[in-house]
Amino acid sequence: MHKFFTALVLVMLLMTPAMSSAHESHGKKSAMLVVSFGTSVPEARKAIGNIVDTVKKEFPSVDVRLAFTSNIIRRKIQREQGEFIPNPSQALAQLNDEGYSFVTVIPTHMIPGEEYDEVLGIVTAFAGIDGKFGFEGVRVCSPFLDGVGGCNVMADILMKRFAGQLEDKETGIILMGHGTPEHPANAQYLQLQLALNQRAYGRFFVGTVEAAPEIGDVVAELKRHPEIKKLTLSPLMIVAGDHAHNDLAGEDDPESWINVLKKEGYKDITTYLVGMGEDENLCRELIRKVYALYTDTADGEE
Ligand code: CO
Repeated sequence: MHKFFTALVLVMLLMTPAMSSAHESHGKKSAMLVVSFGTSVPEARKAIGNIVDTVKKEFPSVDVRLAFTSNIIRRKIQREQGEFIPNPSQALAQLNDEGYSFVTVIPTHMIPGEEYDEVLGIVTAFAGIDGKFGFEGVRVCSPFLDGVGGCNVMADILMKRFAGQLEDKETGIILMGHGTPEHPANAQYLQLQLALNQRAYGRFFVGTVEAAPEIGDVVAELKRHPEIKKLTLSPLMIVAGDHAHNDLAGEDDPESWINVLKKEGYKDITTYLVGMGEDENLCRELIRKVYALYTDTADGEE
């Protein structure tokens, strides 16, 4: 039975618009739900929008929706911008109510941390509902830094993203991840650091804003590389929102990374405050993950 559904969903996913009448005659509707932590910084929304647009372009016959996991951000957007963005369980309930049979959940999270666990919990719960309030199939993609393989892919994406900076042997690239202090998934940042070291030793320095490695660890590592005299600071996050603009590059905050690094004597510091969601190679990787859900038989079953 599983195989039948897998084949059916794959056909729906790959369907061209010309085939959509056949799809409708079967009465089975497919949707994709992009799930992000969210951001209340309007400027930073374009990174999430770019991911949604990439998914829409790749799967033109599938309906694509968006949900945010942060209730604080959802409420702030509702209050300040008058826009309602559902949380993942609201979005799935809505899709069920609208008669969708198959849903692919596409989280944009970097690590399989707390936020991702919560998405998994919701998807697992919906997958367990039989009858008219459930789906015939609901699956969820893995986050980007999901082990050795995912960290290698991300390292390759970062090598391309910072190819220009890498040409200058005196430039170090400082990446600010979010981090999660109470979760084993935080170790993914060190795995990524290893993957980056294997590709360009001494050029990338990964830290996090909420956990380890912290900026002090980044500074200590930089001191081991006196050949690095110039720095580029960039968020290792889907959006360049509050953390990127304040904790990383905030000129007024004495504890921002840019000010800490200036105090350490680095004079030539540039910032690249662009969310990873705007990176075309990262978006391609997300699409690959969606296809992998329906073509890799070993895992991805829900
Ligand atoms: Co945060």
